[in-house]
Amino acid sequence: MAVPTGITTRIDALREQLSQHIYRYHQLDDPTVSDVEYDELMRELVALEQQYPETASDESPSRRVGGPVSATFSPIIHRVPMTSLDNAMNADELEAWGERVARGLNGEHVQFVCELKIDGLAMNLRYENGLLVQAATRGDGRVGEDVTANVLTIGSIPHRLADFASASIPQVLEVRGEIYMPLASFQAMNERALAAGDKPFVNPRNSAAGSLRQKDPAVTASRELSFWSYQVGESVVGPGADFSSHHSTLQFLQHLGLPVNPNIKSFGSLAEVADFCMYWQAHRHDLAYEIDGCVVKVDDLAQRERLGFTSRAPRWAIAYKFPPEERTTLLRDIMVSVGRTGRTTPFAVLEPVFVGGSTVGMATLHNEDQVRLKDVRPGDTVIVRKAGDVIPEVVGPVLSLRPANSKPWSFPTRCPCPVGSELVRPEGEANTRCVEPTCPFQRAQRIIYFASRGAMDIEGLGERTVFQLTEAGLVSDAADIYTLTVEQLLTLEGFARISAENLIAAIQASKSRPLQKLLTALGITHLGPSAGEGLSRAFGTLDAIMLASEADLATTDGVGAVIASSIARWFSQPQNREFIDKLRAADVQFGNVVVSRQAQVLAGKAVVVTGTLAGFTREQAEAAIKDRGAKSPGGVSAKTFAVVAGAEPGASKLTKAIELGVPVLDDAGFAYLLETGELPPQQ
Ligand code: IVH
Repeated sequence: MAVPTGITTRIDALREQLSQHIYRYHQLDDPTVSDVEYDELMRELVALEQQYPETASDESPSRRVGGPVSATFSPIIHRVPMTSLDNAMNADELEAWGERVARGLNGEHVQFVCELKIDGLAMNLRYENGLLVQAATRGDGRVGEDVTANVLTIGSIPHRLADFASASIPQVLEVRGEIYMPLASFQAMNERALAAGDKPFVNPRNSAAGSLRQKDPAVTASRELSFWSYQVGESVVGPGADFSSHHSTLQFLQHLGLPVNPNIKSFGSLAEVADFCMYWQAHRHDLAYEIDGCVVKVDDLAQRERLGFTSRAPRWAIAYKFPPEERTTLLRDIMVSVGRTGRTTPFAVLEPVFVGGSTVGMATLHNEDQVRLKDVRPGDTVIVRKAGDVIPEVVGPVLSLRPANSKPWSFPTRCPCPVGSELVRPEGEANTRCVEPTCPFQRAQRIIYFASRGAMDIEGLGERTVFQLTEAGLVSDAADIYTLTVEQLLTLEGFARISAENLIAAIQASKSRPLQKLLTALGITHLGPSAGEGLSRAFGTLDAIMLASEADLATTDGVGAVIASSIARWFSQPQNREFIDKLRAADVQFGNVVVSRQAQVLAGKAVVVTGTLAGFTREQAEAAIKDRGAKSPGGVSAKTFAVVAGAEPGASKLTKAIELGVPVLDDAGFAYLLETGELPPQQ
C-alpha cells in the first residue's frame, strides 16, 4: 500500500522538528518546547510510523532514546544499554499498560514497585571491586559521556561501597539512578547568580545538567547535586547479592551505602498503583526536590525477562507523567514582538506568577487566531500553565472574573518599531508580518541571532547591547559589528573599558568560527545545525556552497530539496550577496580553504559502528563513514551494508547482524572498507 504524500511530508516534518528539539535539549541544555509539547509530537510520529510501517527508519527520532553525545567529554560505550521509559499521560493509559502486562504474563499475579520519577539526569556509576571507577551520562542510550571527575564531587555518591572490605563486595556493579539538584540548592545558586548579575537558571533539571557539563569539577562541587539509585546495569556479583526482584535489588544497593529514595512502595493491584500516583500528583511540592511523575515497575525479574523490551523501552515499566501545572494571574497587556524574518508574535504580559518551578511574566500567544480562539483580553484573569519545563502557556480566561467593560483585543495594524510600517497578513496564512526590510526591529533580531550561542556565539552581544548599538546608529547589519571600536562602545550606557574590550575581543574571536556556525548565523530559512554540518563536510567553504548547483545541494547529507531551494534563493538575493561581501572584507573565515573531499565510495550505503575501534573515537569512525557518502545509523537493519565491530561491541547489534546476514567487519576490514568501499575478501 502506497503511503499518501501528505503522511510522508508530515512524518518528515515531525522527524526534523523532533531532531531539533532533541539537539536543543541534550546538547544546548536550552529547550524551546515544553516536555508536554515534545511528547505530543513524539506520540504523533510513533502513531504514524505504526500505522505505516513502511516509513520506519532506524534514524527516526522515535528510535533514539536521547540526544547524540556531545564532543566535550569522552565517549563511554554502555555495556548494558540505558533505555528510556514509555509514558502514561493519564489514569487510562496507566490502566492500559497494566492490562498489557497482565496479558503478557497470562494473567498471573504481578507485584508492582512504585517510585518517584525524579526530574534530573540518568547516570551510570561503575564500581569495580567496591571502588567508583567511572560515571557516565545516558547519552543516546548506547554511548554516554564520561563525567567521572564531576560526579566524584557529589557528596551523596560513595567513592567506595560500604561493604568494601568484605568478600561479598561485587567485582563489578553498575548502579543507575538520577542526579538531581535539590530545590534549596537551586534557589541558593540562582540567588548567587542574580547577585553577580548573571542570568539565572530556568529550573533545577537544567541546572543539574549544566553543572555536570562543567570542565572544572570545582564548579560542579559548588552546585550541591545529589543522587537516587534505582537500577543495576552490568554486574558481576558474589552470593551475597539477591537480584531476583526489584525491591531486593534496591535493598542490596542500600546495604552497600548507595542512596535509595525512601518513598518507594510495593502493591499487588493496579488500583493501589493509581492511588500512589494520584497521591504524589497532589503532594509533589512536599518534597525537597522536583519530580515530574511516578515510575511503576514489575517487581519480579523473571517476569520482567518474559515481558522484554520494545525498540525504545522496557514493557515491564511505565512512567506516569503528571499533567502540567496551572495557576491564575492578571493579563496586564498583549503586546507584539517582531522576529528576524518580520514575523510578528503576540505575547501576554502577565502579573508575574510562580508556576511549574519558575516565575512567569510573559507567555507567547503565537498568532492572531490563537488570541481570538482563546479570547483573552487585557484585564482578564487568565490560567497559565507550565509543563514542568521551559515554555509557559496561557490556557484561557477565567470568564467569571472578566471586567464588565472588557473588549476583544485586536491585532495592531502597524509595526511596533519606530518606523511603524504597515503589518500584513497574507491570505490563508496564520502569521502577520512586517514586510519592510529596513525595519529596525527585524535588523536587530537578525544581529541577535547572528551572535547567538548556536551561531557565531559572541558572548556579551545579547538583546540589550544589540538594541543599544542599532539605536545609536553604530551598526545596521551583523557585518558592521566587526568594525566596532572600544571607543564607540564606551559611548553606550553600561560599558566600562574592560567590558568594551571584552566584547570587542569576543567579536574578533568569532571571525574564526567553523563554517557550520557561520551557515547557521546567516539565518537562511530551514538551514539548521544538521544541514550546516552536512554542507560544511561536503563543500568545505562558503564559496563552494555559493557556487554549487541546487541539485548538488539537495543531495548533500542533512539537506533536501526544500532546504536546497531555500539556500539557492537566499544566495541569489543581491542584498545577501552584499552582506557576504562585507563579511569577507571584515576577514570572517569562510571555511577551510583546501577541500579534501573523500571519494564517495560508500555513497547511499549504511554502515553501523559498535564497540571501540583501534585508532578511532566513535565520532571519528562515524565521520570517516559519512565523509565517504554513507550513513552511520545507530541500529542494524536488513538494509545495513556492514557492521563494524571493535572491542566490546554491543551484543544486540551483533546478534541482529548475524540474524540478518549483515557482514561484520573487524578493524582491518573497516580500513579496507574505507579505502575501497567494498567488503574485504572472505568476510
Ligand atoms: S527507571 C529501564 N526509575 O526517567 C528503566 N527512571 O523517562 C530505566 N527517572 O531515563 C529508568 N526517576 O532518567 C527509572 N525512579 C526512576 C526514575 C527514572 C527518574 C528518569 C530516568 C529515565 C527517564 C525516563
